[in-house]
Amino acid sequence: MKILALVGTNANFSYNRILLHYMKKHFNQMADIEVYEISKLPAFSVDVPLSEQTEVWNLKQKVKEADGVVFSTPEYDHGIPAALKSATEWLSYKTEVLKHKPCMVVGVSYGRQASARSQVQMRQILISPDCDANLLPGHEVLIGGASRVFSKDGRLINDEMRDNLEDSFTNFIEYIQVFKNFEGGDKMAYKRPTISDAYINFPTGRMSLREVQQIFSTIPFEIDLVDSSDRFAWFSDNKHRLQEHSLASLNEPVSQVHSPKSVPGVMKIINSFRSGEEDIVNRPVWLNGERVLIQYYALRDIDGHYLGTIKFTGSVEFILALFENNAWGEKPADMPAAPVFEDNDDAPVADASTGASESESEPAEQTSSEPVAPAFSAVAEDDTTDASTGASESGSVDADDETADATTGASEN
Ligand SMILES: Cc1cc2nc3c(=O)[nH]c(=O)nc-3n(C[C@H](O)[C@H](O)[C@H](O)COP(=O)(O)O)c2cc1C
Repeated sequence: MKILALVGTNANFSYNRILLHYMKKHFNQMADIEVYEISKLPAFSVDVPLSEQTEVWNLKQKVKEADGVVFSTPEYDHGIPAALKSATEWLSYKTEVLKHKPCMVVGVSYGRQASARSQVQMRQILISPDCDANLLPGHEVLIGGASRVFSKDGRLINDEMRDNLEDSFTNFIEYIQVFKNFEGGDKMAYKRPTISDAYINFPTGRMSLREVQQIFSTIPFEIDLVDSSDRFAWFSDNKHRLQEHSLASLNEPVSQVHSPKSVPGVMKIINSFRSGEEDIVNRPVWLNGERVLIQYYALRDIDGHYLGTIKFTGSVEFILALFENNAWGEKPADMPAAPVFEDNDDAPVADASTGASESESEPAEQTSSEPVAPAFSAVAEDDTTDASTGASESGSVDADDETADATTGASEN
């Protein structure tokens, strides 16, 4: 773990510098802390020519490479020193090096308020739009009475303060770890896509990334993607998911996210897609008391090259209940016979996006607001592992079970 620690003053003697060197030594098992002197920087001005910004550039590189940044601030007149404000301005002006960077604020001062007011100011600065840092919440490291709490050789000798520092820094490392697990930015967007205003122009229309994300959150089905290098790349974000997934599994090889028992079955499906032998594999399963359809699709580009495997999972209880309640009514006499559906065929589908009816006659009335059957349920812990992603499926058919294919009626041969 690489941490950059900024001494928040340009003074020759500084207790904040002593604190950071103490942290470097004290936490050397947890992190590699580099103490940086802001006195090397020119005073911030938008007019400083680029040729005189070498040290500014150096600092920006260090911030980029660091997993986290610690700001140690003295208190000058109830605020942060001008030199620290200047350094922070360099880190926010025409650069995004602090954006989403895990940051922590600590501070030493003479007074009993222990730099509390300057730390509040520093925190405000770090969450300003141009800094946009990921600031460690809570965890105030307030070291007052500076001249009494350090030993001559620079150790923090106040037990209470040291305990608090240890607790806060440990939390900072864990906080950084959380972000590292989601690293890649694009790999995981919590509630909305990372580029929120971008549009994707499909041949059939355009959608914003936000709309794409919300579509996956809204439809009552879940989709998982294993990419062409057999890594678990993505799962749709839906609070009703039948199968829960761990974010920690993202980007893991499929062989690692499955129990050894199910890996052969998983790889059999994936390899049949990769080789072109199969395009769809169907798995009707019982999942936590519901009838669920799992379908695996080979994802291919327009030239047929394998891009990955998509897994679709959806409860069919609602559809079955509609069917049992005769929701479609009698088939109109002039309606041609429905073609027999086979996997890989271009079977006609109802026009779901426009709501256009394929029939002249109105179907029997059935509103989706009538709770015919529970559409979703949580998945119980189970020892049977799902074929593509390792999620649990109660009573599911094992993916590598040859007899399973017979139960689906799908053309898997
Ligand atoms: C210009 C100036 C203003 C100060 N204002 C405050 C203050 O508002 N509150 C406080 O607790 N200490 C204040 N101090 C004392 C500092 O806390 C003390 O100098 C501390 O050691 C500064 O941190 P450093 O040793 O890392 O430079 C001030 C010091 C200076 C030079």
